[in-house]
Amino acid sequence: MKIISLPDGERAPVLGQGTWGTGEKKSRHVEEVAALRLGIDLGMTLIDTAEMYGEGASEELVGEAIRGRRREVFLVSKVYAYNATQRGAIAACDRSLRRLGVERIDLYLLHWRGSVPLSETLNAFARLHGAGKIASFGVSNFDTSDMEEAYGLAHGQDIATDQILYNLTRRSVEHDLLPWLGHHHIPVMAYSPVEQGRLLGNRKLASIAAARKATPAQIALAWLLAQPDVIVIPKSGDAKHVEENRAAADIALTAEELSALDRAFPRPAKRKPLEML
Ligand SMILES: NC(=O)c1ccc[n+]([C@@H]2O[C@H](COP(=O)([O-])OP(=O)(O)OC[C@H]3O[C@@H](n4cnc5c(N)ncnc54)[C@H](OP(=O)(O)O)[C@@H]3O)[C@@H](O)[C@H]2O)c1
Repeated sequence: MKIISLPDGERAPVLGQGTWGTGEKKSRHVEEVAALRLGIDLGMTLIDTAEMYGEGASEELVGEAIRGRRREVFLVSKVYAYNATQRGAIAACDRSLRRLGVERIDLYLLHWRGSVPLSETLNAFARLHGAGKIASFGVSNFDTSDMEEAYGLAHGQDIATDQILYNLTRRSVEHDLLPWLGHHHIPVMAYSPVEQGRLLGNRKLASIAAARKATPAQIALAWLLAQPDVIVIPKSGDAKHVEENRAAADIALTAEELSALDRAFPRPAKRKPLEML
């Protein structure tokens, strides 16, 4: 598995695992834990969760999946925007640590921008970092103007990633957000890489995938992995899908395939405000 270096030197695999929607159904519990463990076995050792997912149930599930294997895993979690005050972020992080059953989160993100002043959240993150409770911190759903503002604040230049909606059907970020992040050497974490499954029925994608004897999900992931400095975090609670997704990291798309995807899923002519799910 290819590894990416974060600005502070921390290292993470380019293909990880999302967990939104996991931990919520008892009937799916065993399968979801097994899927995450299989993903770790296969090298998808970055696991993305959030206090929001199942109101802590996803973090608990992740905690169970990584028990005994903490050192293999790069753990990402996120604080609710409304918890991201000086005291609130520290308390939220403590709760996440407890649910995850770990002493340190590798990367802690502000889930989206809310009404708490950014300077306050960044100060809280710096304190959590100083206390050894998080190794790195970053943001999510930040558009270019948010990144510019954050970068001008104390600790803003320590932001390790911006986790954003990015896939074949959400390419507006290529106008200025991705170039801005690239210029500042901040890797992107692409969420909903298969558009929560909606991309998989696309006929053009299916035909490009069939020609390669791959699945649409694999081609959608391989396209993201072909972009520079992008970490991709598909969610799957299904072992077969996890294996399929892992194999996408070994697909090097040809120049012809990349052009075909570009024609089928063109970047919008004009920039739009950052979309989020
Ligand atoms: N920061 C944010 O605001 C934010 C927002 C959204 C998501 N995220 C993070 O990003 C992760 C991924 O995004 P997402 O969960 O929204 O969407 P996603 O990964 O694009 O799609 C997940 C859906 O696709 C299905 N799927 C996955 N691999 C498949 C395959 N190979 N073949 C067929 N179906 C497949 C999954 O079903 P199965 O489980 O049955 O495989 C699931 O229904 C989240 O889980 C979360 O960790 C962050």
